Amino acid sequence: MTIQQRSPLVVGNWKMHGTFASNSSLIQALLGRIEGVAVALAPPSLYLSATRQQLTGSTIALAAQNVASEAQKGAYTGETSATMLADVGVTYGIVGHSERRQYYGETDALVAQKCLRLQEQGIQPIICVGESLAEREAGQVEQVVSRQLRAVIELCGIEALSQAVIAYEPVWAIGTGKTATPQDAQAVHQFLRQLVAAHNKNIAEKLCILYGGSVKADNAASLFAMPDIDGALVGGASLVASDFLAICHAAKASIVG
Ligand code: 13P
Repeated sequence: MTIQQRSPLVVGNWKMHGTFASNSSLIQALLGRIEGVAVALAPPSLYLSATRQQLTGSTIALAAQNVASEAQKGAYTGETSATMLADVGVTYGIVGHSERRQYYGETDALVAQKCLRLQEQGIQPIICVGESLAEREAGQVEQVVSRQLRAVIELCGIEALSQAVIAYEPVWAIGTGKTATPQDAQAVHQFLRQLVAAHNKNIAEKLCILYGGSVKADNAASLFAMPDIDGALVGGASLVASDFLAICHAAKASIVG
C-alpha cells in the first residue's frame, strides 16, 4: 500500500483555544496559502459559524471537535447535535479524542454512537484511537486500538469506514512534545489498516489514517513519508499559522508522482 492511493489530510484541532479576534487573524494568515492538500480546521463549537463565514470561498473545510450522541433534538442542555453541525456547514467531526475519553468519561460505545450520529447527517467522523503510556509499556497497544476501533465497526458496520477518517493519537504524545517515531507510528497505522482489511480490503486501502501527537513543522515530513500515515491531526502547532502552514506544505510535498 502506498500513499498515492490516498490524498493527505491535515486537520487543525484548536481544542479550547481562541477568541473571535485571534481566530480571525489565524484564519486570515492561512487563507490563500494552502493548496493541493486537503485541510480542515476544528474550532470550538461556539466559533464554528464565524469560522464557516471566514472560510467561504476557500478550500479549507470545517470540522467539529465533538457532537451529541442523541439523535433527536430535545432537552439536552449544553449539547450540539449532528444536525446543527451539518446546518452550520461542518464536513468532519472528531469523535473519541483521548481528552474526551479521559476527562469526560466517553466510552467506546458512546464514541461509536457519536460516529453514527455524524454519518446520519453526512458528516465524516474522524475517529480517534490511541493508547496511554501505561498501556504502551504493558505491550497493549494493538489490544487497545483494536478494541476502540471494533466498537465503531460493531455499531456502524465496516462500510461506515468508507466515509470516515481514523486518527491514531498515542495519549503520551499529545501536548507533551514527545512524538512517536515515524516507525512506531507506522507500525500502528499498518496494524489498523490490516484490521480493517480483514473485513474489507478495498475500504482499508482507501482509508485515511492520520497521526496525532506533537506533530510539528520539523517532524511532519518524516511522519508523512511513512506509507500508512496519510496526514495529521494537529493540536498546538495548529494555533500558530506559520507552523500549521509548514505542516500542510509537508503533507503536500509527500504526494508522490
Ligand atoms: P498536540 O499536537 O498539541 O500534541 O495535540 C494533538 C492532538 O490531540 C490533536 O487532536
